[in-house]
Amino acid sequence: MAKLLLNTLKGKPSDRVPFWFMRQAGRYLPEYREVRATAPSFMDFCYNPDKATEVTLQPIRRYGMDGAILFADILVVPDGLGQKVWFEKGFGPKLTPVNDEKSFSRLSLGGFHNQVGNVYETLRRLKVELPSEVTLLGFAGAPWTVATYMIQGAGSKDHAAARQMGYGNPELFGKLLDMLVDATAEYLIAQIDAGADAVQIFDSWSAAIPEPMFEAWVIEPTRAIVDKIRAKHAETPIIGFPRLAGAMLPTFVDQTCVSAVSLDTGVPLAWARENVQNKVCVQGNMDPHLVVSGGKAMTDEALRILETLKHGSHIFNLGHGFVPETPPEHVALLAETIKTFRR
Ligand code: CP3
Repeated sequence: MAKLLLNTLKGKPSDRVPFWFMRQAGRYLPEYREVRATAPSFMDFCYNPDKATEVTLQPIRRYGMDGAILFADILVVPDGLGQKVWFEKGFGPKLTPVNDEKSFSRLSLGGFHNQVGNVYETLRRLKVELPSEVTLLGFAGAPWTVATYMIQGAGSKDHAAARQMGYGNPELFGKLLDMLVDATAEYLIAQIDAGADAVQIFDSWSAAIPEPMFEAWVIEPTRAIVDKIRAKHAETPIIGFPRLAGAMLPTFVDQTCVSAVSLDTGVPLAWARENVQNKVCVQGNMDPHLVVSGGKAMTDEALRILETLKHGSHIFNLGHGFVPETPPEHVALLAETIKTFRR
């Protein structure tokens, strides 16, 4: 059977709008929590092909999304470069900070594929196990977003440590971004080799960056990754997600040459239609918190999104990932609403 999501990414029109959801595998599903409880740590979980394959498939079985996103995490890349990465319960990710020449010198691409190789194995298994009409999505974090975690050694509100290194020590910061470009491009190429039909690059923290830095920290590294992927896999669609990039979105699309762009919840849709969807396929952009409350407010909003974007290329998604308190039955109603809509 044809893959509706992949065809949409390649510009083919259709009556039904394909859909998937960011964080569709996750703590809101009881069957996910069950598998999660058997893993000694979150990173072990990401590197366990049995468990990672199973939780990738869980939401597809329940809801029949058109896309299955590989279960892993953006912090697999720093881990593959030799940085210590772990998740603390109730806190989130922690890393030994890379904030000077000495800590940077400990990173290397040398052991990368060996360290992250089980992720590729997960994709090979998914390729076999997924229904043929489901598009398999690989992903990675964008260099800027991954660097915010690597430099801070944790998540942070305003990404102070990364910004301050970008301004104060541009040489070291540039070397780190360059290494992330190389690692991320290799990682995504290997994911495509292993069976990913398309890939998404998450730049979750690309908000409120001054224009020249947006070009240097967000656009240029993403463009370099796109070029490297296209040199090997010219036909594989690449979805960009410069979250909260606001008015920089059209520039992002023009200069990175991504095949599609994911819209965060705050992007006005009539504006997106005129300024972004006229260039590439758009994905988005339902507020994940509206799926927590559910009901008619949720289905009305889904229909507004579908109606507003129906004359161009659109993949229904959230504006950011599901939160753990999302009731699974609200997701079922949302999926039904999208599946029964016709342009
Ligand atoms: O279903 C999917 O979307 C696929 C898997 C996926 C995960 N993380 C699993 C995960 C994907 C695509 C990601 C991307 C990711 N990871 C991003 C970019 C997207 C975004 O949300 O902005 C970022 C910034 C991260 C880093 C990260 N991973 C943080 C900050 C946390 C802790 C916060 C939290 O929700 O607990 C994670 C952990 C994480 N990654 C979980 C999942 C399902 C929850 C951890 C658990 O189950 O214990």
